[in-house]
Amino acid sequence: MKSTAVQERDHTSASETLDRLERQFTPEADFTPNGNPVVQARGITRTYGKGDAAVPALAGVDIDITEGRLTAIMGPSGSGKSTLMHILAGLDQPTAGNVWIDGTEITHLKEKRLTQLRRDKIGFIFQSFNLLATLTADENIVLPLSLARRKADEAWRRSVIEAVGLQNRLTHRPAELSGGQQQRVAVARALITRPAVLFADEPTGNLDSRTGGEVLDLLRRSVDEFGQTIIMVTHDAGAASIADRVVFLKDGRVELDEDRMTRDHIYDTIKNLEVAR
Ligand SMILES: Nc1ncnc2c1ncn2[C@@H]1O[C@H](COP(=O)(O)OP(=O)(O)OP(=O)(O)O)[C@@H](O)[C@H]1O
Ligand SMILES: [Mg+2]
Repeated sequence: MKSTAVQERDHTSASETLDRLERQFTPEADFTPNGNPVVQARGITRTYGKGDAAVPALAGVDIDITEGRLTAIMGPSGSGKSTLMHILAGLDQPTAGNVWIDGTEITHLKEKRLTQLRRDKIGFIFQSFNLLATLTADENIVLPLSLARRKADEAWRRSVIEAVGLQNRLTHRPAELSGGQQQRVAVARALITRPAVLFADEPTGNLDSRTGGEVLDLLRRSVDEFGQTIIMVTHDAGAASIADRVVFLKDGRVELDEDRMTRDHIYDTIKNLEVAR
C-alpha cells in the first residue's frame, strides 16, 4: 500500500515538473493549471449587507483547483475563507463573478439543479462533524447515497470503511463514538459518493492533535491513493503542511499562493500576514 502511494507521489512530482517546464515555454503560462481544474472561480466578490453597513467579505478572487491535489486555504479570522468555500461549493451566491464545478457554471443554476450537482459532485466535512444522532455509523456513511436513491458500490464502500478504520464501529451511533471516530465517519460519508471535490472547513478544529493527525493522514491518503481532490480551510500550520498547495487570503483577496510549504514557513507567513493588518 505504502509503496503504491510513494510511486504515485513520484509520478505526480514528475508530471508536475513536466507541467512546470511546459508552462515556462507557453506564453499564457501563468494561467495554465497543473492538471484539470475541477473548480474554477473568476472575479468572485461577496458583499454582505448594503449601504453603510456593507461588509466586503471577498474582493475579487480568481482561483483554479486542480484535480487530485489537496489545497489548503488559510488566512486571518474574517479574511473570507468560509465565504469563499461556501461560494465554491454552491452553498452561497457571489455578489459578482463565476464558478465552474467540473465544467458546469453554477452561479446561474436553478436551486434544483444546484442541489443535484452538489449531491453528485461535492463532499463536505465540517468542523462539528454534522452526523445524524439517530443513525448508526454505517447509516451515516451511506446517507448521501440514500438521499440520492443510489446504491453503494459494495467494493468501494468496503474500501472506504477500511481506509477510515471503522470496521468494528459500524453499528455504533455518534454518541457512542469518540470525536476522532465521528470525524472519520464524516470523512467516509464525504468519500462514499466519490465526489469530484471534497470541501473541508476546519476538519480538525474540534480534535486533539493526535486524533486530528489521524484525520489529516486519512485526507492525505485519499488524495494519494484514490486521487481525491480536496479543499481544506484550516488555521493550523501543521494541517496545512500536508497540503500540495497553500492559498492565503487576506481582506477578501488571495495574498499568497504557494506549492507545498513546511510547517515553519507557513507559521512565519501567517505571523507576517497578521502583523501587516
Ligand atoms: N452572514 C454574514 N453577514 C454579514 N457579514 C458576514 C456574514 N458572514 C461573514 N461575514 C463577514 O465577512 C467576512 C468574512 O467572513 P468569513 O466567515 O468568510 O471569514 P473566515 O476567514 O472564515 O473567518 P474565521 O477564520 O473566523 O472562520 C468577515 O468580516 C465577516 O464578519
Ligand atoms: Mg470560517
